[in-house]
Amino acid sequence: MAGLKTNTKLKPVKKADLQIVKPPKTVKYNDIDLNSWRDYGHVKTDTLWEFPSRLKEGGHSNEYHGNFIPQIARQLYERFTRKGDVVLDMFFGSGTSGIEAVNMERRCIGVELKAELAEAVSAKFSAKQLVTDVNIICADSAGEAVREKITARLEIMGEKKAKLLILHPPYDDIIKFSDKKEDLSNCSSTEEFYELFGKVAKNGYDMLEKGRYAALIIGDKYANSQHIPLGFGCMQKMNELGFITKAIIIKDMQGNERAKGKTANLWRYRALAGGFYIFKHEYVMIFQKL
Ligand SMILES: C[S@@+](CC[C@H](N)C(=O)[O-])C[C@H]1O[C@@H](n2cnc3c(N)ncnc32)[C@H](O)[C@@H]1O
Repeated sequence: MAGLKTNTKLKPVKKADLQIVKPPKTVKYNDIDLNSWRDYGHVKTDTLWEFPSRLKEGGHSNEYHGNFIPQIARQLYERFTRKGDVVLDMFFGSGTSGIEAVNMERRCIGVELKAELAEAVSAKFSAKQLVTDVNIICADSAGEAVREKITARLEIMGEKKAKLLILHPPYDDIIKFSDKKEDLSNCSSTEEFYELFGKVAKNGYDMLEKGRYAALIIGDKYANSQHIPLGFGCMQKMNELGFITKAIIIKDMQGNERAKGKTANLWRYRALAGGFYIFKHEYVMIFQKL
C-alpha cells in the first residue's frame, strides 16, 4: 500500500503513558463535573452574594427599574440547570432570565402581565430564538389560564415540565409596575399579596419537574414603622406547597442601586430618627420540589 511504512517498529506502550479519561461525574440537575470541582471557582456555594456592579455585556441593559442583575440568573443556571434545559420565569419583566438563558445555551419560558413590556422584550430576541429558545407569554401568572399556555409552550419545546422555576415578584407595593388589578404590586394589603404569590407559586410548582429546583428573589419592606418580612412570608407559601428550603442567600443590593447618592443622607437621617436600618440586601431563596 502506498505511503504505509511496513518496517516501522512500534514502541511498547508504557503504563505511565496511558491517560485515563474519567467519564464526567455529575448530578442530575447540572453539568458541573465533580471530578474537576476545583475548576468551578466562579460558581458560588456560599450564602453571601456580593456583586459590586451589574453585568452589562451579553445583551443586558439596565433600562427596567426592578430587574435583577444577570449574575443571579448565571449563578442559578450553573447550579440548577443543564445545557438545553427549559427555565420557567413567572415574572419575566425585562427578560433578564431569557437573555442569560440564550447566553448559556439554556431555554426559557417567561410569563409577564404587561403586554407592552412582553412585546418590547420580544424585540431583544431574533425570530428564530423566539421559537426555539425563548417563549414569552403575556398572561396573569396567578390565573388558571396560564397553565394551559405554559404546557403548550413546553410541548412546542419538546418538554413535559420545566427544569428550573424562577420567581421574582414585585416586593409587594414598593415599585408599582402597572395599574392592572392582577398585578402583585397593586394588592390592597400584604395578606392579599401573599395570597396571589401563593397562586403563582402553585402554578410554577405544578409546571416543574420533580427533584428540580426553584429560586425566589425577593426583598423585605417597611410599613407603618415596622419591618415586614416579605421574604419569609413568601418562603412559608413555598413550603406550604411542598417545596423544601435548600438555602437562604443574602445578596447585597449595591448592583441594583441607581442614583441613590442624593437621597442616601435623607435615608440615614430617617433611620437614625426612626430606629430602623436601611435595607442593603435582598434574598435569593433556593427550594427543591421533592
Ligand atoms: C420584579 S419584576 C421582575 C423583573 C425581572 N426579573 C427582570 O430581571 O427584568 C416583577 C414583574 O412581574 C410583573 N407582574 C406583576 N404581577 C404579575 C402577574 N400577576 N402575572 C405576571 N406578571 C406579573 C410585573 O409587571 C413586573 O414586570
